[in-house]
Amino acid sequence: MKDIKILAIETSCDETSAAIVVNGREVLSNIIASQIDIHTKFGGVVPEVASRMHIEVISAVVQEALDKAELKLTDIDAVGVTYGPGLVGALLVGMQYAKSLAYSIGKPLIGVNHIEGHICANFIEHKDLKPPFVCLVVSGGHSFIVYMKAFGEFEVIGQTRDDAAGEAYDKVARAIGLGYPGGPKIDKLSKEGNADAIKFPRANFHDDTLDFSFSGLKSAVLNYLNKAEMTGQQINRADVAASFQKALVDVLVDNVIKTCKMKEVDKIAIAGGVASNSTLRATLIKEGQKHGIKILFPAPVLCTDNAAMIGSAAYFEYVNGRTADLTLNAVPNLKLGER
Ligand code: KG4
Ligand code: ZN
Repeated sequence: MKDIKILAIETSCDETSAAIVVNGREVLSNIIASQIDIHTKFGGVVPEVASRMHIEVISAVVQEALDKAELKLTDIDAVGVTYGPGLVGALLVGMQYAKSLAYSIGKPLIGVNHIEGHICANFIEHKDLKPPFVCLVVSGGHSFIVYMKAFGEFEVIGQTRDDAAGEAYDKVARAIGLGYPGGPKIDKLSKEGNADAIKFPRANFHDDTLDFSFSGLKSAVLNYLNKAEMTGQQINRADVAASFQKALVDVLVDNVIKTCKMKEVDKIAIAGGVASNSTLRATLIKEGQKHGIKILFPAPVLCTDNAAMIGSAAYFEYVNGRTADLTLNAVPNLKLGER
């Protein structure tokens, strides 16, 4: 069978990225222009600024992806693009660019769900991985436990009822003065702290659900900090970071292992920015060993937003005949499995 080369574009948040991916698994190039330095000044992503930055760099990023792969536009078989969920203005920049490219080379356009892209990062890292498996998707905007039954078939088993895992990391990091993005900073600082120093709550729902919640945990950290300030008590930031992280990771790991038992699956893949967290990885591996479950994760560069993962997801849509036309629109709150 002929190799399928997909040019993929991702602009759903604050990374402008373009990649060339062959047959959904082999990455020829994956160019990522991060806007993090600009948004750091504001303590988080400013949507309008993100859209403008995407416009400024997208042409150069796409060209670099082609150059690095040593391909011309005419060598491409299809153009894949994230059409949701994400920031509407940011999504539109990538989509307009992708539509124009697909039209100009007369090749199909494929709309990709960003969350599906995060999951598919695992197909790049693990060349033989096939569904069924359970995937824990934990990023700045989303937290889901997903059962991937077959290629392109997803069942959401649990999700956050409020804050996403990455959002909780970012908010707690800001409260203890670590800055944005908080996840990697808490990850690092926690190594110097005692994770059992402070007992932060784990949300339990009494309705047989595998949903989870992090806003109570975040509030508990904020209350702890306020109380310490009012009473003049010195806080140990590393202990706060490590204890917060343990509470969050415990809930995720518990629920994802329960999902595997329920679905009788022996593989967990993790995805999204928080999937590069060292405590989450170590805890999952330890619990996985106890329960005979294999834990798979992508390299950190494939965990955070990137176009290679979109190129992988686009390939599986393409082989299932799911291409889009030029009326494809951005869907900021696109759900997983929705088309
Ligand atoms: O997947 P991603 O790049 O963007 C979204 O689609 O949201 O995830 C970004 C999130 C941020 O909240 C960041 O703080 C978090 O991932 N993150 C981490 C780590 N690296 C990134 N959280 C915990 N530990 C890390 N090592
Ligand atoms: Zn993402």
